Amino acid sequence: MKIAVIGTGYVGLVSGVCFSDFGHDVVCVDKDPAKIAKLEAGEVPIYEPGLEDLMAKNVEAGRLSFTLDLASAIDGAEAVFIAVGTPTRRGDGHADLTFVMAVAEEIALAAKNYTVIVTKSTVPVGTNRKVKQVVHKANPDLDFDVASNPEFLREGAAIDDFMRPDRVVVGVQTDRAGEVMNNVYRPLFLRDFPVVITDLESAEMIKYAANAFLATKITFINEIAALCERTGADIKQVSKGMGLDGRIGNKFLHAGPGYGGSCFPKDTRALARMGQEHAVPMQITEAVIKVNDEVKRRMVDKLLDLCDGSFNGKVIAVLGVTFKPNTDDMRDAPALTIIPALVGGGAKVRVTDPQGRHEGEALLPSVNWVEDAYKAARNADLVVILTEWNEFRGLDLKRMAKHMATPRMADLRNIYSNKDAKRAGFDAYISIGRAPLEPSKSGDA
Ligand code: UDX
Repeated sequence: MKIAVIGTGYVGLVSGVCFSDFGHDVVCVDKDPAKIAKLEAGEVPIYEPGLEDLMAKNVEAGRLSFTLDLASAIDGAEAVFIAVGTPTRRGDGHADLTFVMAVAEEIALAAKNYTVIVTKSTVPVGTNRKVKQVVHKANPDLDFDVASNPEFLREGAAIDDFMRPDRVVVGVQTDRAGEVMNNVYRPLFLRDFPVVITDLESAEMIKYAANAFLATKITFINEIAALCERTGADIKQVSKGMGLDGRIGNKFLHAGPGYGGSCFPKDTRALARMGQEHAVPMQITEAVIKVNDEVKRRMVDKLLDLCDGSFNGKVIAVLGVTFKPNTDDMRDAPALTIIPALVGGGAKVRVTDPQGRHEGEALLPSVNWVEDAYKAARNADLVVILTEWNEFRGLDLKRMAKHMATPRMADLRNIYSNKDAKRAGFDAYISIGRAPLEPSKSGDA
């Protein structure tokens, strides 16, 4: 079948490439000529493991192409996916639907035959009905349906998540649209991945509820971690003991410096805003947003303690700035709260990240970028692990500590332990939700 995907951002591009790999005939559309030129040259504008190869394979097979021309792309397409951005609107926290509605109107004006207009972008509950109105108003004669098909892929694992999803959620109003969506995802259904067919509003709500729930789970464990630090409990043992309860599960139970990224912060804010609008305050989600901000700030206090109360004149090496590994995305990364606080306090900050430099340079002025962790740590007073890239999991800590001015480490992803740090010659090591290794109490390890 022929499919058009409008928007070649993260979700649009991954979806388009994966749909073509299912064997569908896919055209991806974007209004940015530079982006389309890049894609036509075989370059992927984002960092996502495996995406470039999969794209090349399907372009070569003649199933995948890119264009600026929306009208030609949707000509003959049974399903047209809207995958444009829905950023947080400045001022009121709402999801900004300008791009979604503009694309809906364009599709309406260009479509000729029966089309299912599918929203893949994360949109507030009720948006698909509005899309339906906009399309009908723009082209009253068009035979069409709308469908909601939220995407649950994680950056860095996007292809695997798309090809092996926990579930596919499809919200439709008619059997005819359901049939088209069934054809789109048939290759997955044949492999027994569950599909949840719902009404439009429920599909829209599932996405927000799932993301807010996961953000809550992380924030909950981060709060427990803070209490562990005060009471002598060890968060790794606590997470393990909790996660083995099948009702809780062990995923998204890793304490860290606070969640970031393109989805959780944006979607929790939008859900809270929706709650206010409907006079049903999302009190738990609102608390999660507040606590997550506090978690990031708490990290600064922990680092300040480790620097004996002042960052002034200290050389601090930061390993990792992206909000998580295997991405170059810096959106709402804890690094954006923590590093400016270090710089503002008078520290000299050296930064290394396998993919973050390109985005990070503009967002983090006044830091020095270096190639690797050892260069960053040379003569430094403190090493801070902010993102758990694989490169930082197997560091030669002894080599690192030997060349530091004062061998101290803040491991905000709990990669190492007091034992590892002590053995390597660090005289201070702190992590999240676990007892620290302090110079005066080095026997505690
Ligand atoms: C998330 C959802 O997982 C995905 O389903 C949705 O479609 C988009 O948002 P993503 O933002 O790519 O995906 O990253 P994810 O791996 O979920 O991590 C989000 C944040 O939570 C990161 O900052 C990560 O470091 C943090 N996190 C995650 C933790 O602090 N602890 C955990 O146990 C898991």
